[in-house]
Amino acid sequence: MCGIIGYLGDRQAYPILINGLKKLEYRGYDSSGIAIFCKNGYSLYKTKGKVDELEKKISSYKKKIKGTTGIGHTRWATHGVPNDLNAHPHVSNSSELIMIHNGIIENYHAIKVILLENGFTFKSKTDTEVLVNLIEYIKKENKLSLEEAVRISLNEIIGAYSIAIVDKSQPETIIIAKLGSPLALGINKKEFFIASDPIPFINYTKNAIYLKDGEMAILRKNKELDLRKIRDNYKLSPIINKLKINLKEIEKGEYKYFMLKEIYEQPKTISYTLRGRLIISDKIICVNGIEINKDIFINAKSITIVACGTSWHAALIGEYLLEQLARIPVEVEYASEFRYRNPIIDKNDLIIVISQSGETADTLAALKLAKKKGAFVFGICNVVGSSIARNVNAGIYTHAGPEIGVASTKAFTAQIAVLILLSLKLAKYRSTVNENKYHSLLNELTNIPKKMDNILKIDRHIHIIKNISKVFHNVNNFLYLGRGINFPVALEGALKLKEISYIHAEGYPAAEMKHGPIALVDENMPVVIIATKKGCYEKIIGNIQEIKARKGKIIAIVNEGDIQASIMSDYVIKIPEISEELSPLLTVIPLQLLAYQIACIRGKNVDQPRNLAKSVTVE
Ligand code: G6P
Repeated sequence: MCGIIGYLGDRQAYPILINGLKKLEYRGYDSSGIAIFCKNGYSLYKTKGKVDELEKKISSYKKKIKGTTGIGHTRWATHGVPNDLNAHPHVSNSSELIMIHNGIIENYHAIKVILLENGFTFKSKTDTEVLVNLIEYIKKENKLSLEEAVRISLNEIIGAYSIAIVDKSQPETIIIAKLGSPLALGINKKEFFIASDPIPFINYTKNAIYLKDGEMAILRKNKELDLRKIRDNYKLSPIINKLKINLKEIEKGEYKYFMLKEIYEQPKTISYTLRGRLIISDKIICVNGIEINKDIFINAKSITIVACGTSWHAALIGEYLLEQLARIPVEVEYASEFRYRNPIIDKNDLIIVISQSGETADTLAALKLAKKKGAFVFGICNVVGSSIARNVNAGIYTHAGPEIGVASTKAFTAQIAVLILLSLKLAKYRSTVNENKYHSLLNELTNIPKKMDNILKIDRHIHIIKNISKVFHNVNNFLYLGRGINFPVALEGALKLKEISYIHAEGYPAAEMKHGPIALVDENMPVVIIATKKGCYEKIIGNIQEIKARKGKIIAIVNEGDIQASIMSDYVIKIPEISEELSPLLTVIPLQLLAYQIACIRGKNVDQPRNLAKSVTVE
């Protein structure tokens, strides 16, 4: 994880770095730091805590930090606890080289031993300090230029990195390199912007280069970009992309938190996901990535979906949809498990990877493994141009727009919408769904944004959710139950609560509750239960009775007009009725809002929950 930033040009670097770091905090926020360079040396500031802390610390010095070259970092700790010493930038033993790093150097211990034997000392516990000293060692031993020392050192490294390094004696040069962790470079005439994603520099330039794995670049003030291969120093021609990010999408606007904004954006984002793909006038679904690979999808005997976190919950919903509608057996795997268990897959297999960020290290590694074994890999990603999007054989973007709140919301519903399109498309190809059902699902899909709006805009719903939050914000445990396609929604509801309020919550298939969790139910246990009409409604009623018999408090998500479940429940949130296949798009919304309200009452920072990061680029 971690966010890195850098600037080289004629402007003052400090404001660019500090504001850029704030935009990268979704990648980690347990400590941060910057180094600014000028002819006479450099100023280095770092501190434990969020970027605001760094800004406060720097302003307390009451002197202007001047310099037009700089690098900065916001950290999610891997090696060494979050403290000032472990914060980046890290400085080599001679104080000549200053470096920031995102990723993990796996063989850092062996390198550290060699460096210690050669008289190096270390202040921090980080792998980054080892790398910057390895570069110094190789540079001095072999009397090399910085770029050559960086290149040779990186060839000794096992692991993942995106780095930026400066030699204080050459303050008008920054060297950057990438393997595994993301790195974008903004170019504007005579200046360079470095960042883990382009958002920090979108205000300054729309021209971006995404460094590929195994590439390094030497940035010199007022000079052309020098892009090379790390392995053999081969000179490369850069490919410049025109960025199309709308600034409004990355601002909070009237909302207190990005998460709330993103929850409320869902009616809009779902219509973006469906736009140009669901052609209701012709009753067809157009997805290029599927159409040009039609045979692969038709002939697939089974599908494995691989993902992490919330995307894994979307994958479970995908399993239900693909099996129900397209009648293809589906397995869902955690990417971190899949990649290390030598999965039995070959060229006849179809693998789907799902990732909001497109950068999750385990999902990316699983995708590469599947490709290596010859499988066809289809990606469902939100971030355009991300590593996963670039590496799949074909794919579809969710088009939910930038998601900044660490707890995923709009990306989740967009992933479900894509999985519905995919399942219906395959069902049509394979003739596994009758025309009536197909057309009615397409029609219902077009109405989803309106129905989402109905849940979000009606004051009564919000009032009930706020009320429930007031009653239960101090409990220690929550249970979330659902059946069928709404079981993964129960998992997602529990995850949202855990992530942002730090209340322990478990999601369970409602019937499975009898095999353990029911032992936890007493008058203090709130149980959120998805009791919508379609699916196993009667069975859910039975489950509600079992909880009531043990005095548990029922918070039920029911359909408008519901009577039976409502009478038995302590709190009821009503949502519009919809076919079971589409229901997760609606049932999850009250659960997102409930988690949000509880976290707010508990005074938590909803967008930056402790220990978490939006993009997990370490395994
Ligand atoms: C992190 C985020 C989650 C996300 C998961 C997978 O844990 O905090 O919100 O669901 O990574 O991320 P991806 O970008 O691959 O969907």
